[in-house]
Amino acid sequence: MDKIVVQGGATLSGELRVNGAKNAALLIQCAALLTSGKTTLRHLPLLSDVRTMSRLLARLGCRVTGERTLEIDSQDVGSGDLEAPYDLVKTMRASVTVMGPLLARYGKASVSLPGGCAIGARPIDQHLKGLKALGAEILLEHGYVHLKTKRLHGAAFVFDTVTVGGTQNVMMAAALAKGESRLENVAREPEVQELAQVLNKMGAKISGAGTSVIEIQGVEELVGVDHAILPDRIEAGTFAVGAAITGGDLLLRDAPVDHMHAVISKLEEAGVQCVVEPEGLRVHGPEQLQPIDAVTKPHPGFPTDMQAQFVVLASVASGRSMVTETIFENRFMHVPELQRMGADIHITGNTVVVRGVKKLSGATVMATDLRASASLILAGLVAKGTTEILRVYHLDRGYEAIEDKLSALGATIERRKGASS
Ligand code: EPZ
Repeated sequence: MDKIVVQGGATLSGELRVNGAKNAALLIQCAALLTSGKTTLRHLPLLSDVRTMSRLLARLGCRVTGERTLEIDSQDVGSGDLEAPYDLVKTMRASVTVMGPLLARYGKASVSLPGGCAIGARPIDQHLKGLKALGAEILLEHGYVHLKTKRLHGAAFVFDTVTVGGTQNVMMAAALAKGESRLENVAREPEVQELAQVLNKMGAKISGAGTSVIEIQGVEELVGVDHAILPDRIEAGTFAVGAAITGGDLLLRDAPVDHMHAVISKLEEAGVQCVVEPEGLRVHGPEQLQPIDAVTKPHPGFPTDMQAQFVVLASVASGRSMVTETIFENRFMHVPELQRMGADIHITGNTVVVRGVKKLSGATVMATDLRASASLILAGLVAKGTTEILRVYHLDRGYEAIEDKLSALGATIERRKGASS
């Protein structure tokens, strides 16, 4: 397994072009199952999760070619078994969002239940409840969920909990259902909005995405689409924190500023200068960071995918910060690793109390999940000495060539392939 080695002390400066968003790409790849036409997706990030989704689509019968620009031809889907197997779902839980499209277009789907993951139980009960409301018959057996329907019908459905994937799964299914659907208490994330835009480009009739109520008028069929994935607000936010904690000056080209208000205001609370420019977002880190208080919430609130990165910022701010995680039940696994680097963090329930220290100290640490891995690299940038981050396969799920990008911005960082860990 690879590891990443970081020398502390660099200042990040220069500019970075933000990649297409992983969490938009994965769902829009699923949307290609809704049409027998050809789908072309551009500006895709080169990530293991995107490759895993392409493998799943191919297994379902799609002809998938390319990487940065992906061509998906779904005309032959439906002849084989429409199954998302355990080996794929366990490596990437977003695989469950093929349920809605398969059910809507072919009337059946079998998907391995994803099981828990490092950050929490992450059930899919709301996905299933919503699909059932649209007319799916559901059987849970041997760790798989089997769904079938003669034809999905529109429905009014209120989610018990705000779920990004659940909203996307049910929205895709409703797009081809017979009649009208009204989905309430839906997720408002930019990735939900972008998926709705793509579906409408394919011929769907969806309104309200980005608000807490989405209305869908089902149509008979959808056509292929050519779409450029919008930039990744979480990658942009992660590098912005890097500039903030190293006192750097960074232009994040194409940063989706309109979807980053909560992160930008949190950076400004920490004393970071954020300037919206025509090319994107310029971030200037201060001499001394101020403490922050953050509570993760569904969009447009402060994103859970930026929680670990801000815990690192708080670790080297002057004073006491509090960060509360309300979305996932176990998303503080970066904390023990940061404590080993000298961070003064105390966990009480779903809140961490962080007392800033002057300097972290380099150490060998273990990556546990995608955003925790990124936060450990950020910590290495500001630690005294050398930090080695093991099990960086977690990182490769969501960050394309992060070590090359950081090196280009002035960091001393390298990847050691096949290192023992
Ligand atoms: C998406 O996951 C993102 N992944 C996650 O990003 C992100 O952290 C999350 O949304 C929240 O913003 C992708 O888009 C591929 P949820 P998702 O369903 O859809 C509970 C990253 O780092 N819940 O909104 O799986 C669930 O347990 C990843 O890029 C139910 O109870 O998240 C969680 O507590 C990590 N029942 C909460 O809702 C359900 O049926 C939010 O989960 C579904 C979810």
